[in-house]
Amino acid sequence: FSTLDTLDPKGKRILLRVDLNVPMKDGKVTDETRIERVVPTIRELAEKGGRVILLSHFDRPKGKVVPDMSLQPIATALATALGRPVSFAHDCIGPDAEAAARSMQDGDILLLENTRFQPGEEKNDAGLSAALASLGDVYVNDAFSAAHRAHASTAGVAAHLPSYGGRLMQAELEALYAALENPERPVGAIVGGAKISTKLQLLENMLAKVDMLAIGGAMANTFLAAKGLQVGKSLIEKDMLDTARTIMEQAKAKNCDLILPVDVVISEDFIAGAPTQVVPVTAIPDGWMALDVGPETVKLLQSKLAGLKTLVWNGPLGVFELPPFDEGTNAVAQAAAQLTQEGKLKTVAGGGDTVSALRHAGVLHKMSYVSTAGGAFLEWLEGKVLPGLTAISTTLEKTLPI
Ligand code: 3PG
Repeated sequence: FSTLDTLDPKGKRILLRVDLNVPMKDGKVTDETRIERVVPTIRELAEKGGRVILLSHFDRPKGKVVPDMSLQPIATALATALGRPVSFAHDCIGPDAEAAARSMQDGDILLLENTRFQPGEEKNDAGLSAALASLGDVYVNDAFSAAHRAHASTAGVAAHLPSYGGRLMQAELEALYAALENPERPVGAIVGGAKISTKLQLLENMLAKVDMLAIGGAMANTFLAAKGLQVGKSLIEKDMLDTARTIMEQAKAKNCDLILPVDVVISEDFIAGAPTQVVPVTAIPDGWMALDVGPETVKLLQSKLAGLKTLVWNGPLGVFELPPFDEGTNAVAQAAAQLTQEGKLKTVAGGGDTVSALRHAGVLHKMSYVSTAGGAFLEWLEGKVLPGLTAISTTLEKTLPI
């Protein structure tokens, strides 16, 4: 797609799709990451004299006006982050939005109400796409984290206007491209999480791309069980045992070093502070469950990381929300962070719980790149083409900015 390097925003109405779907509690933003990460694009466009009209969804109001899901409180947080005023319109189309857009001066910033208040948004409705497009002269998509949705504000609108990728979109794609499409090798992936069933496509795509794949989280239990080990009352997916065996065979055939835990931290109860034991994976007693990787696994992963040039990280290795079952994830994340800081490893992380796990480990800002995306990051790792990218692409391929 075209980057902002090829756009002169002066005097133009820039319809800028961002992702302001941020965590909120009691009307206050509790994590500003997505706001902070979109500031450079907004600032660049406004400082160059563009009239910046922001579009975003928030939460899942399902086409209805849900006052608790208004973007209005986020306008305030955004204005603080930008150090510039941000005005607000109470709808994303219609007379309110049109009047607010008409009264803008060069450099002004306007946030429109939650696009998902419109029933046409998630249907990628042609009428809504045209109505949104009528507010702008050009469309810029800076919402990589919503690019897996084929919605009016992420896809449909792009057909009506000259379209560009914003600075955050560009950074996300450059990082992902450098990690998976054209990585410095050896490249490895750490994939954690509870279920193989939700990560099957991701695992298969990773096997084709990486030299080492480490599996953690409850997903690893299913692999251990598939190898014929007793896993006590650990969480496993019985209907995925054959799939796990196939993945292990594929890894061998593709010469991908598949790493499973060699020891685990076990407990009889799934509660914080429950008594624990560390056992080899061959000695999980009946009635106990694996909730984290053990110290030998941590050492193994640390030595594997030391042999890599690039690492993609998705998902925690244990139940990190429940200390002490955070220790494995913390130790491996800290090792990855240290290698990154020493310039020996390029680490790209993202998706779902990953950001909280890395923040919890105190290394969120020590990775080379942390994606703002959850589902979109996963879909990229699965090798899917993202409709939000296709819509602004100058070619139909999933490519780097051109
Ligand atoms: C996200 O938080 O991953 C994006 O904002 C997309 O939200 P959605 O899953 O509700 O489409």
